Amino acid sequence: MVNLLILLSLTFLSYAYNQTLFIFNQTLDHFHVPYQDAGTFPQRYWIVDNYFNPSYGLVFLYLCGEYECPGVDPTRLFPLQVAKDNKARFVVLEHRYYGESLPYNYSGMLPQLLTYLNAEQALADIAQFIRFLNGEMALTNPGVSFKWVVVGGSYAGGLSGWVKTRYPDLVAVSWASSAVVRPILNFTDFDKQVYLSALKSGQSCVNAIRAVNSLVETQYLANNLGPVTDIFNATAAFQGTPDKRPVLFYITDIMAELIQYGHRTELCDALIAVDNAWDMLKEVAILGDEYGMADPTGYAVNSLGSFVWTPSTAGRQWWWQQCTQFGWMQTPSEYQMRSKYLNLTFWDWYCNAIYNYPGGLPLPDVDIAGYDLNYLGTNILYTNGDEDPWQWAGINVTSTDARPVLLIKCENCGHCVELYTPAPTDPIELTRARINIRSLISKLLRNN
Ligand SMILES: *[C@@H]1O[C@H](CO)[C@@H](O)[C@H](O)[C@H]1NC(C)=O
Ligand SMILES: *[C@@H]1O[C@H](CO)[C@@H](O)[C@H](O)[C@H]1NC(C)=O
Ligand SMILES: *[C@@H]1O[C@H](CO)[C@@H](O)[C@H](O)[C@H]1NC(C)=O
Ligand SMILES: *[C@@H]1O[C@H](CO)[C@@H](O)[C@H](O)[C@H]1NC(C)=O
Ligand SMILES: *[C@@H]1O[C@H](CO)[C@@H](O)[C@H](O)[C@H]1NC(C)=O
Ligand SMILES: *[C@@H]1O[C@H](CO)[C@@H](O)[C@H](O)[C@H]1NC(C)=O
Ligand SMILES: *[C@@H]1O[C@H](CO)[C@@H](O)[C@H](O)[C@H]1NC(C)=O
Repeated sequence: MVNLLILLSLTFLSYAYNQTLFIFNQTLDHFHVPYQDAGTFPQRYWIVDNYFNPSYGLVFLYLCGEYECPGVDPTRLFPLQVAKDNKARFVVLEHRYYGESLPYNYSGMLPQLLTYLNAEQALADIAQFIRFLNGEMALTNPGVSFKWVVVGGSYAGGLSGWVKTRYPDLVAVSWASSAVVRPILNFTDFDKQVYLSALKSGQSCVNAIRAVNSLVETQYLANNLGPVTDIFNATAAFQGTPDKRPVLFYITDIMAELIQYGHRTELCDALIAVDNAWDMLKEVAILGDEYGMADPTGYAVNSLGSFVWTPSTAGRQWWWQQCTQFGWMQTPSEYQMRSKYLNLTFWDWYCNAIYNYPGGLPLPDVDIAGYDLNYLGTNILYTNGDEDPWQWAGINVTSTDARPVLLIKCENCGHCVELYTPAPTDPIELTRARINIRSLISKLLRNN
């Protein structure tokens, strides 16, 4: 039976699609009073109609998150595959302030102008966009009322859960992949999960990660980080500020991200194979480079503080969202997978150093953000990868209510793992989870 299912899922792998880019004239401030109208901005979206049969009345909306939206992400085709199975239109929406969905020109990213960058506005964008497209589709498909399935991963997974909650009559089903729905200021559980995941490769991997962090910390204390950052070609990037704590974060975060994105065994094998911390550091640099996780401009205060950016620059906007709304400050836990200097004192300094906000920027009061478990509605499917440190800001299987929650337990199964394009090398547990997700979505659609 299982073999047959695998075969079935593999045969779905070969399909082609065409996407068309459109621009939506989006309201910049959804909560304005009329005499303070802030105007509009161009929001990008893409439509794939290759599998669309309007009489089925379904639209899948894939939310891009805190990055330049590629339209359909060719590395994450599983949602498109599910849309295809359901004969749905597939739509992809870029998030405000990212990529080319910018309210201001590229040089206008002063802190004051970031005011309209928050989750409430982004959710209202999604609602307004759904109403707009419903209106358009009603013209060409009289008599059909469309049901929407909103899909997203990580922060966009959170948006997917929240939009279903806030606008229940616009959204039928939410598929919230590795959704970070709980703002947390002192996010020690992230560090703890880095430990638990590394431990799957044995205590020697845990020790190796600690050895790397401790080497970097020693160099930091000796005011001699040059030899460390040289290995990463990151010396120039961190030159801008005399305070070098961001380097402690940079190096440890490359290791955390490798684990987060399912490269745990690769990282651990590489670290364990060498026997001194300098050589381990070189392995971190090699893997970080290979997976595009070692760009220091996403960490250095100077580049995050710059008002000038290209569509692919996302760090300045995303840190704004963390510093003012979500927190998720990755602080050391008792499991010590990062330097003790990366505590809340550091994060407070970091946010202020980046934005230099007039009057100072206090760390966010995440409890008043209004996003907690009690705000989460029904017909939302939550998924998490077992090795993903972000799962602790999400909904877990021990939640006592009836929400469908799926913990995907397998080797190297990390953040948003099921969204990726199915591959023959996937662990059997992941293939099973995808089959399960398909049928859960059909079930939730019938509920609605
Ligand atoms: C995509 O568009 C091109 C050019 O219009 C067309 O030749 C091709 O058949 C289309 N592919 C699909 C899968 O519809
Ligand atoms: C966008 O909407 C505003 C009013 O909300 C209008 O002034 C403007 O002309 C519109 N732009 C386009 C391109 O439709
Ligand atoms: C860019 O936007 C900012 C803020 O709105 C404005 O002050 C500046 O003049 C704009 N620059 C250009 C070149 O349009
Ligand atoms: C952060 O959480 C850890 C673990 O619960 C705790 O030991 C530490 O005191 C907390 N830090 C702050 C500033 O609350
Ligand atoms: C090293 O970093 C500089 C920017 O600081 C960049 O221009 C250069 O291309 C980088 N070199 C390599 C080999 O990545
Ligand atoms: C963070 O660590 C620094 C250096 O050890 C220390 O001075 C500071 O009090 C710590 N802050 C918190 C909130 O624990
Ligand atoms: C599960 O989530 C609840 C609510 O957020 C949290 O209190 C609990 O610690 C979590 N438990 C596990 C095992 O993840």
